[in-house]
Amino acid sequence: MADASRSDAFVEFERVQKSYDGETLVVKDLNLTLPKGEFLTMLGPSGSGKTTCLMMLAGFETATHGDIRLGGVSINNIPPHKRGIGMVFQNYALFPHMTIAENLSFPLEVRNIGKSEREAKVRRALEMVEMGGFEGRRPAQLSGGQQQRVALARALVFEPELVLMDEPLGALDKQLREKMQFEITRLAHDLGITTVYVTHDQTEALTMSDRVAVFNDGRIQQLAPPDELYEEPQNNFVAQFIGENNTLAGTVTEITGDRALVQLDSGEVIDAKPVNVSQAGERTRVSIRPERVEFKPERLPAGAHMLTAEVQEFIYMGDTFRTRLSVAGNDDFIMKCRNAPGQQRLVPGSTVQIGWMPDDCRALDA
Ligand SMILES: Nc1ncnc2c1ncn2[C@@H]1O[C@H](COP(=O)(O)OP(=O)(O)O)[C@@H](O)[C@H]1O
Ligand SMILES: [Mg+2]
Repeated sequence: MADASRSDAFVEFERVQKSYDGETLVVKDLNLTLPKGEFLTMLGPSGSGKTTCLMMLAGFETATHGDIRLGGVSINNIPPHKRGIGMVFQNYALFPHMTIAENLSFPLEVRNIGKSEREAKVRRALEMVEMGGFEGRRPAQLSGGQQQRVALARALVFEPELVLMDEPLGALDKQLREKMQFEITRLAHDLGITTVYVTHDQTEALTMSDRVAVFNDGRIQQLAPPDELYEEPQNNFVAQFIGENNTLAGTVTEITGDRALVQLDSGEVIDAKPVNVSQAGERTRVSIRPERVEFKPERLPAGAHMLTAEVQEFIYMGDTFRTRLSVAGNDDFIMKCRNAPGQQRLVPGSTVQIGWMPDDCRALDA
């Protein structure tokens, strides 16, 4: 198979489907290839199939159809102790009868690592998650967040080739969470660990990952590096799910090369970039990020189509100004401006002309 022969393919899902009840597919035709060392995040709403994919990769669930390979070998043919997978799962608890130090030492003993090296690695792993000094406690004597950090240390202590993490930072407060996000990515990169990370938090996904797979309804909607995902969403679901987004409904009236004219339902015509529309007459939803909306005509190309907007609300946010507008029948149209020297503060009740670069306005599925 084409993918299997690629030397950089380390983890491969090929046409994987999963049904728990023999009727409904919760994972539908999943194709995904990770090279060694990549940090990939599965991001999506609850129930979209992320955990199921991770459980299949770990070997705890079997695929109903298709194949999952690790280093070119089907996962079904690799015995669990040879998989070299570190895991942090919500329901994959610490051993309750062992101390924290014993919990971390265990995966090293299994791998026949000597005592002094074991102790050094355990100490380092606990320091990494700021749990030094807790060696002698048992899991029940720790808070949920502390247990989560120990679980993280245990998954990484034996420097596995592949680490799977399912919402590992869910129980941590914001500050520790951000610190751990940074620590996990730094460690994964320094040690060359391939990571499949699951979260429903888009900021976490964007800041930590080499690539993000956006899941919805058992399918990958888009697989791309964070900046591409944010700036070039390929469909309406991704545009809505990642970041803040304004949408306007309309009908494509003309497509010439990489320009579309869209007549909005309110009657106005605007310029857009055709993304997943292909011909005149198609219904579309155009998508514009709040920070790409301009109200100074001199910052837009000559002849750009402008829309009349009524200012509903002005919110001062310190570094940015957030203005809520009524535009083409949408009362929740958001414009975000940097609080730059001389930046104008718009007054509620007033009227402005707004526009954007056609490339920043994406004509997506309706
Ligand atoms: N063990 C199971 N038995 C039956 N259905 C399950 C099981 N685990 C998950 N599901 C169902 O599969 C779908 C995907 O779930 P899951 O993979 O946990 O999604 P996510 O992790 O994205 O929230 C959901 O509809 C869920 O109810
Ligand atoms: Mg889940």
